[in-house]
Amino acid sequence: MNIKQLFSLREKVILVTGGAGKYGKCMVEGLAEADGTVIIASRNKANIDQAVKYFHDKGLYVYAHEVDQAMHDSILNLKQWIMDQFGRLDVFVNNAVSRPMKDYNAPMRDFAESMETNATGMMDILREMSSLIERSGGGSVINIASMMGMFGPDLSNYEGTDMGTPPPDYFFHNAGLINLTRYLARIFAGKNIRVNCISPGGLFNHQPERFLENYYKKVPLGRMANKDDIKGVVVLLASEAGAYINGENILMDGGLNA
Ligand SMILES: NC(=O)c1ccc[n+]([C@@H]2O[C@H](COP(=O)([O-])OP(=O)(O)OC[C@H]3O[C@@H](n4cnc5c(N)ncnc54)[C@H](O)[C@@H]3O)[C@@H](O)[C@H]2O)c1
Repeated sequence: MNIKQLFSLREKVILVTGGAGKYGKCMVEGLAEADGTVIIASRNKANIDQAVKYFHDKGLYVYAHEVDQAMHDSILNLKQWIMDQFGRLDVFVNNAVSRPMKDYNAPMRDFAESMETNATGMMDILREMSSLIERSGGGSVINIASMMGMFGPDLSNYEGTDMGTPPPDYFFHNAGLINLTRYLARIFAGKNIRVNCISPGGLFNHQPERFLENYYKKVPLGRMANKDDIKGVVVLLASEAGAYINGENILMDGGLNA
């Protein structure tokens, strides 16, 4: 196949949870620019409507539906809507994240609330959307974890800021997701479903100046990720260009942890 055809997402129906969020919006844009039909699913209706308008104004095929992945019925509702509207699902970008826990000493109920979305809810939506992909003849599941699921926090990045200590739930569930990727790649053997993970580094989002100074010094590329950085890797994993990549975790951190 020609390399442009290999990377094309024409006729692929792609679900991105948390697609109106920071990294989510970048991936939705890249996937739609590669000619995919992209569905944003997220909790906040106003945010997803705003994101859809932004993409429509750019001439991109993006649709939206509400989901709360902590609620089983809400996941089933989204699944039915996808079947009714599109009749299939080819790619699931599992990207939503909830951040109720603010630092190491936050109440344990915040940890439990985090797990409702980031562990139990995530497993639930992974199982339901993968079954839709299986019914469609196979496809690709792309988990979005974090470099913070692979390494401990570098606390010196936060020196001189009021950003506090990074919360433990985030390190816990992202690490779990990376190995769940390998588990699912094995579980789906023979079903033509590839499962991979992207572990990004920090996305530039106007963080405090002192944090940026600390961070930039440590990254060989001397910067945080920008809005385009994740587009190529997610399109690779979603498309036929990535057809023999399976069970992999791709660290995308500008060399920070090299
Ligand atoms: N932003 C970064 O610098 C960064 C760095 C490394 C990894 N990541 C990873 O990228 C992914 C996205 O992070 P982000 O920073 O773009 O997040 P974000 O907070 O900007 O967006 C998260 C999205 O998830 C949605 N969401 C939260 N709870 C939900 C639920 N119960 N059901 C459905 N949707 C729900 C929110 O509405 C929001 O749209 C996460 O997996 C995160 O670990 C982000």
